[in-house]
Amino acid sequence: MSNKIIIAIDGFSSCGKSTLAKALAAKLEYVFIDTGAMYRAIALYFLRNHISFQDETAIVKALNNIKLHFEYNSNTLKSDMFLNGENVELLIREMQVSSKVSEVAAIAAVRDFAVAQQQAMGQQKGIVMDGRDIGTVVFPNAELKIFVTAQPEIRANRRYLELQATDPSITMEAVAENLQHRDHIDSTREHSPLKQAEDALVLDNSNIDRAAQFEIAFNWAKESIDKSKSL
Ligand code: DC
Repeated sequence: MSNKIIIAIDGFSSCGKSTLAKALAAKLEYVFIDTGAMYRAIALYFLRNHISFQDETAIVKALNNIKLHFEYNSNTLKSDMFLNGENVELLIREMQVSSKVSEVAAIAAVRDFAVAQQQAMGQQKGIVMDGRDIGTVVFPNAELKIFVTAQPEIRANRRYLELQATDPSITMEAVAENLQHRDHIDSTREHSPLKQAEDALVLDNSNIDRAAQFEIAFNWAKESIDKSKSL
């Protein structure tokens, strides 16, 4: 019997979820899935094809034309997001997509489309998936659920430094505003809003570095794996 488990990592935007999920997956030799990238790729498709976020018929039709897949990139040691065969990993991180993605992720048909694919990816276990609703909706029975938090100003500063590297014209105000806007939509939307699962372990990384954060989460993972072995 396999001892692999599912690790669900949820939390607000830019709180270091992906960094943690990626490191855990590498150490455990699990598959890492960044579900935000899927919503971003769908948003990019909608923007490119001028799909109205209110037009349900157009949305369903558009979703039928979207094929998403991840492909491992040996340079970055993570998987890139592909939209209909095109590598969109860099494009989906741009402000144009960031400023609209929460609206797209709030659409029920979009969530059903993405969640079905995410659940299929977890069938064999051995995955670390990060997002907003992984522990609550996608894998409510995940063996380990981690809810990552950090103070808003710390998150904004981290994101600003990250974006500045590729876009020096970006301002701290724009980044902070975008984060606030996304957090608000993500946590107040009708369909599977961001919320902490009751059985999630909370990891506040405001005042700890990546290594310390990893240590805490890796110990939790080891405990959960041991527990699942003894079942
Ligand atoms: O994690 P991120 O910033 O790349 O996510 C992009 C957007 O997608 C963000 O607005 C939240 C949304 N999202 C979601 O609703 N559910 C998920 N499982 C992952 C992301």
